[in-house]
Amino acid sequence: MGVHYIEHPLVQHKITLMRDKTTGSKEFRELIAETAMLMCYEATRDLPTKEIDITTPIAMAKSKIISGRKLAFVPILRAGLGMMDGVMSMVPAAKVGHIGVFRDPGTHTPVEYYVKLPEDIAERDAILLDPMLATGQSAIHAVDLLKQAGVVRIKFMCIIASPEGLEALTAAHPDIDIYCGVQDACLNADKYIVPGLGDAGDRIFGTK
Ligand code: URA
Repeated sequence: MGVHYIEHPLVQHKITLMRDKTTGSKEFRELIAETAMLMCYEATRDLPTKEIDITTPIAMAKSKIISGRKLAFVPILRAGLGMMDGVMSMVPAAKVGHIGVFRDPGTHTPVEYYVKLPEDIAERDAILLDPMLATGQSAIHAVDLLKQAGVVRIKFMCIIASPEGLEALTAAHPDIDIYCGVQDACLNADKYIVPGLGDAGDRIFGTK
């Protein structure tokens, strides 16, 4: 358990390109999907495997496949959607849940507006996706929801985190693994990450 930083040069390079305010929505969407794909590779490093017998065109072989509990990806709407293509390209058989939470602009507290989880979510390991871990309140709320739904093994994947968000999430849920591209300096008065990359949802969907 704890925070795992993905220091791979490809991830760091793509984060730098995403930070650039001149990067447009099309390129931003491609970068966030690619970054999520690379991070997923690390976040699934501990998946159990088992050896099976397989027949190649040449001979019989003993070879490994992933075994054990199945996965569900759960993007936190709406910015988490930007990570979906990347992670689904790595684990196409995963099921997908959605958690819609927005930050009340006045109080900065999470307001839930949509939750739809796979029926068998309690039998799956869940990876929550949100590119920006800012105050941590939406993430804490999402983990609460998954635990209430019976999920035992939960991972949280974010691209940029604030120290405040990491502290809040690890304090509220010390039993989850957090996969993070980089920790930034702080939050500003509007609870945006500094230097961050701006509003991830707006940059993915071109809404501003
Ligand atoms: N959400 C974002 O999209 N960006 C931030 O900096 C903080 C929260």
